[in-house]
Amino acid sequence: MVSKGCTVVKEAEDQLKPWRKIPGPLSLPIIGQLLHFLPGGWLYNRPIELQELLHKHYGPIVRIDGNLGFPPITFIFDPEAAITLFRKEDPLPVRPGFDSIIYHRKHFYHKHEDDPNGLIIDHGEVWRKLRTMVNPVMLQTKTIKLYANVMAEVSDDMITRLRSKLNKQKMLETNLFTELNLWALESVGVVALGGRLNCLDPNLPDDSPAKKLIVTVHDIFKILHELDFTPSLWKYITTPTYKKGIKLYSEHMRLNEFFIDKAIQQLKSKEEKNDKDKSILEKLLEMDRNVAVTVSNDLLLAGVDTSASTTLALLYLLAANPEKQNKLREEVLSDEEKRPYLKACIKEALRLYPVLGGNFRQTTKEHDVLGYRIPKNMNIFIGNQSLCLMEEQFPKPTEFIPERWIVDKNDPLYYGNAHPFSHTPFGFGVRSCIGRRIAELEIETFISKMVKNFKLDWIGSPPKRTRICAINYILEPYNFVFNDV
Ligand code: HEM
Repeated sequence: MVSKGCTVVKEAEDQLKPWRKIPGPLSLPIIGQLLHFLPGGWLYNRPIELQELLHKHYGPIVRIDGNLGFPPITFIFDPEAAITLFRKEDPLPVRPGFDSIIYHRKHFYHKHEDDPNGLIIDHGEVWRKLRTMVNPVMLQTKTIKLYANVMAEVSDDMITRLRSKLNKQKMLETNLFTELNLWALESVGVVALGGRLNCLDPNLPDDSPAKKLIVTVHDIFKILHELDFTPSLWKYITTPTYKKGIKLYSEHMRLNEFFIDKAIQQLKSKEEKNDKDKSILEKLLEMDRNVAVTVSNDLLLAGVDTSASTTLALLYLLAANPEKQNKLREEVLSDEEKRPYLKACIKEALRLYPVLGGNFRQTTKEHDVLGYRIPKNMNIFIGNQSLCLMEEQFPKPTEFIPERWIVDKNDPLYYGNAHPFSHTPFGFGVRSCIGRRIAELEIETFISKMVKNFKLDWIGSPPKRTRICAINYILEPYNFVFNDV
């Protein structure tokens, strides 16, 4: 039943079927589809990703009814239908979800009702105003390149730190994902806040603000899944998970404020800098203090686990594919300024291990999609994780083949044969990831140094991934061997 191509079914008005007729799990009176998601239900303890199961069973468009405060969702697995819908959407797109964070900001954090909540969760004019101010500071490659030296310094420190934690078997004695989170926080810190947070200090205690922040961010993504991306009763009664979530969100804001205040104090004591030496916080502070603090909060939430997860995935793929690792090392050691193979490796890691499962939007008007009428205010999920693994989009889809991103168009692997909407790891359009340039620079810098320093091996079977989080994680054990080059 899997969708074969990218056809948008253009039916005549009267042939369009209503949303209720979209295929989906059997719906029973009163409880709807809930029983499938409860213990014993076929979607509860699923062997594969929910979106893959839905796609396999129901085809290119799937209906999931809402329940227990969880809104209905339409899953779309046809890239052409998806892009057509996205293009017709409002110029100020709505990305739903995060209701529990919005609730927290409103009732437990804000001093004034009209304070912005941030790029991740705001919509409409409030979001547009924030985004317009931040885009030039964060999305221009030449602006982000100004941070290349300091990023390189952070990566050097990270390599030193990793070396100091290797045992006689050349395996890491600490948790690599925690280590990568510290590196990602340090990297985002230098760009966003303008100073070293010292996350890579060899004597960093477990109760340091940096370690507490990365644990909090990680826990937030777990709890977000339970509160906002699965049916949950928190909107009706005070559940233990809700209480835990509110505590976590407050702790996150407290830690953010600690780092932001520290950065502002440091800025006050420094001499006047050139524009090119200023951090994002500094540049935004010159425009509006509220915006600067709100956006820094965003960066400290969205810019840590995401880069760390992608880097972990790429390290694993390189360790498991030694010939690709050697090819990358050759390119890095050649000291050529352009590094197409490195960029291709990152793209391929994001294809095989995307941080987010897909693109999420809420419709602001009715749409006709694949023969059905999708109502206004409907949550739409485009299953990019499944699209990326479709044979008709990417031949040999489960293999790590960075070459597909650089071969010419006569090669059957050529990436341009895939629909452009099938690989969108940083999202789509005006609402796409604002940290993309920072993430690319930090990952490129660190991975280059890793392959220069270490020959990575992986022992045993591939790692498992978790499906119970708002973002995808690779699970322990991380069986890397870090041999010297
Ligand atoms: C490899 C790393 C990363 C990946 C794969 C990633 C992916 C994404 C995706 C898919 C979105 C949603 C886009 C959409 O709805 O169209 C997003 C949004 C966002 N990301 Fe990232 N991200 C990464 C790193 C970062 C970093 C390092 C930062 C901060 C420095 C960051 C900050 C944000 C923010 C603030 C948003 C919300 C943007 C908005 O709605 O205006 N991300 N990211």
